[in-house]
Amino acid sequence: MLIKSKYHNAHVYRSHHYSNAIHRRRKQSALFFFSACLMFMYYLRTGQSSTTLVDSPRVDSAPNCPQSSIKNDILVVLRTGATEVPQKLPVHFKTTLRCIQNYVIFSDYEEDIEGHHIHDVFNETSDALKDTLPEFQLYKHLQAHGRDGLNTQAHLGSGPTGSLENPGWKLDKFKFLPMVEKALRYQPDAEWFVFVEPDTYLAWANLLEYLSHFDADKPFYIGKHMYIDNILFAHGGSGFALSKAAIKRVSQHWKAHVDDYLQYTIQQWAGDMVLGRVLRDVDIDLFWAFPNFQGDPVSSLDHNITKIGRQPWCFAPVTYHHMQPDEITKLWEFEQRWGRENDRTMRHSDVFRGLILPQLSERLDDWDNLSMGTEYSARALAQLSAGDQQLLLPAEREAYKSFEDCNAACSNKTDCMQFSYSAGRCFTSTEVRQGFKASSKCLEYSNAAGKCVQSSTSSASQKAGVESRDPVQSGWMMKKMERYMQRLTEMCDGNSEGLWVT
Ligand SMILES: *[C@@H]1O[C@H](CO)[C@@H](O)[C@H](O)[C@H]1NC(C)=O
Ligand SMILES: *[C@@H]1O[C@H](CO)[C@@H](O)[C@H](O)[C@H]1NC(C)=O
Ligand SMILES: *[C@@H]1O[C@H](CO)[C@@H](O)[C@H](O)[C@H]1NC(C)=O
Repeated sequence: MLIKSKYHNAHVYRSHHYSNAIHRRRKQSALFFFSACLMFMYYLRTGQSSTTLVDSPRVDSAPNCPQSSIKNDILVVLRTGATEVPQKLPVHFKTTLRCIQNYVIFSDYEEDIEGHHIHDVFNETSDALKDTLPEFQLYKHLQAHGRDGLNTQAHLGSGPTGSLENPGWKLDKFKFLPMVEKALRYQPDAEWFVFVEPDTYLAWANLLEYLSHFDADKPFYIGKHMYIDNILFAHGGSGFALSKAAIKRVSQHWKAHVDDYLQYTIQQWAGDMVLGRVLRDVDIDLFWAFPNFQGDPVSSLDHNITKIGRQPWCFAPVTYHHMQPDEITKLWEFEQRWGRENDRTMRHSDVFRGLILPQLSERLDDWDNLSMGTEYSARALAQLSAGDQQLLLPAEREAYKSFEDCNAACSNKTDCMQFSYSAGRCFTSTEVRQGFKASSKCLEYSNAAGKCVQSSTSSASQKAGVESRDPVQSGWMMKKMERYMQRLTEMCDGNSEGLWVT
């Protein structure tokens, strides 16, 4: 097992320990999936298209951009790859990047997209390396045949984005160290370097406010903690920041040990972890910035999740991860509106109240809120001991029968906040998450991947080309929602205290 994060394990247990009454939902397989996901789908960036309620595109005037004395001192560095550029990059030119003065995009292929230049991060990597390492096949292919060559070679650039077999993914780990050094060269006088990916959402106004709490002359490495083996590092998709003092030290050290770190990179599978290793080697500790930096999209973040003793609710978001283009657009529009109408910092709780809550309802068809707490089904019921059956409320015994029965069971349980119903199975949860439009129930949700990793469609019917569709419906306990939010808000101390991890 590669992952040794006690926090991650704690998180897995937490999201399943509500399974008290009935059928502990596949704790083992969930754990298996969890580690499998971290190993194989760590970078998973695609997902079922979560085409939620997309606002129709409108011609908007100049964006409302935050003013800050440090806004010109930050370089935002977007790391991407040729295979994902067309799908994931353009949305940023219409949204998040519009307020950012200084940014640079590094990829495995040099090109111009909608008038923006994309740099080749490997333009100074030795030819010998490119010729010998199999991971560089995609790169070589792009060099020889250009972007159009991607279409003609089915085995290049195809395949699920998170899988180890994906050529873009295999190459990705080599980008980190050259990227860091090139970023410094790109804007040597910057105070801060902030690294993101195309499915990272950067809340720019909040980032400016957050970084103003730190002194860039000191070596800072700020991000969302993650472990692989015993290496602690800032998770790439959640975004991370290096102060100028830190980036100079890292770049110098890397340049003096290029070959050593190349050998190390070849043995590892994640580039952000490799960078974390270099930072450790130059004695710069990670600053644990969860939940300002965090790894979930708006739609599946549990705003009351506890990690390292903190819950998002009271804090201000700087990043989201696994954001689909339509979700990026919606959050951008919300953030713009927020900036015009308020003169205080946007918190996670504000995003919940203003963006998520209006989309929740007593009933949503073809919607999976990913309720994965207690399952009620005939099968689960049958597996309970007589004693455990006695403990069930009448409504719980009936829960599997229909959407309405499932609703009643959830209503009867004080802490149940949402439920979903599909084909004789009722799932309830004490957490509130928006979830996704879905034609079938998600049975294994991967937090690491930020998406469903297995639907109820059986592999047999998939092979036969038959889609087995058990529609899924979701509902939230709207009557309990005010009280839920109130209880969370009671945990926030003071007005601006607790917004930031500093
Ligand atoms: C590589 O690209 C960078 C820009 O990203 C540029 O400054 C540099 O001159 C290039 N190096 C070579 C050898 O072309
Ligand atoms: C509890 O469940 C019963 C059905 O067993 C239902 O009639 C009743 O409305 C539920 N109570 C609440 C508070 O929802
Ligand atoms: C938030 O989570 C904590 C710990 O998991 C739990 O005890 C608490 O009841 C939750 N708060 C709400 C309002 O659900």
